[in-house]
Amino acid sequence: MDGQTVTAAPVLILLGPPGAGKGTQARMLEEEFGLVQLSTGDLLRAAVAQGTEAGKKARAVMEAGELVSDEIVIAILRDRLAEPDCARGVILDGFPRTTVQAQALDALLAERDQRIDAAVSLEVDDAAMVTRISGRYTCAACGEGYHDAFKQPATAGTCDKCGGTEMTRRADDKAETVASRLEAYHAQTAPLIGYYDKTGALARIDAMGAIDDIAAELGAIVKRVTG
Ligand code: AP5
Repeated sequence: MDGQTVTAAPVLILLGPPGAGKGTQARMLEEEFGLVQLSTGDLLRAAVAQGTEAGKKARAVMEAGELVSDEIVIAILRDRLAEPDCARGVILDGFPRTTVQAQALDALLAERDQRIDAAVSLEVDDAAMVTRISGRYTCAACGEGYHDAFKQPATAGTCDKCGGTEMTRRADDKAETVASRLEAYHAQTAPLIGYYDKTGALARIDAMGAIDDIAAELGAIVKRVTG
């Protein structure tokens, strides 16, 4: 990572397999630095819940643990990136996931006179990912993430952030689907580590440690790229 160009609206990418902690870290960065978390997984789940055309096409693909088509995901990301709050800077969580998406992102940012400040690879062991994902649940009201073993609310069943008491688990967090998601990551997304290495934007973080330690390393990268 060269860290030399400071843009008005920083763009960070979090790369990593399912369960690496992309969402956990993106939400922490959003709170600490005022950046906007753009999770294509969340945007697709919202499209499924709303029953949009894109959501109808995406539903079965997501439940099988495969990647939704580049065309659908790029269109969703393009629309979200054009919303005014993204002028504060963004953390891309789960996008890009293919070389076609990475090239589309380069073109979208070039149109906006922006560039990628850092692409951070969260590096983890596959075996640990199954444990992380199978223990995961979120607050239905605000989306705050928790884990049966690693991150429990102060009062069991009550969200620390908003006080909500309904917790949900994702439909694609079953063991067999997690295996397909990991396979898709290694075949289609892991090559992006080399893509960003070549552009000089890549940083690697050992994401097997504690959530707060990883957040501190990521925070240092954000501070460096935002000056
Ligand atoms: P998406 O929603 O992006 O899911 P994912 O990439 O599989 O990632 P996860 O959300 O499962 O994990 P995470 O890395 O965010 O980990 P988290 O912080 O939750 O995508 C879902 C689906 O949508 C895809 O399968 C695909 O079908 C489709 N899709 C999305 N984007 C797409 C795209 N660009 N192109 C095509 N299709 C796309 O952490 C996991 C758990 O571990 C939590 O409980 C957390 O509390 C805990 N935890 C986190 N960090 C730590 C730590 N350091 N130590 C211990 N526990 C931890």
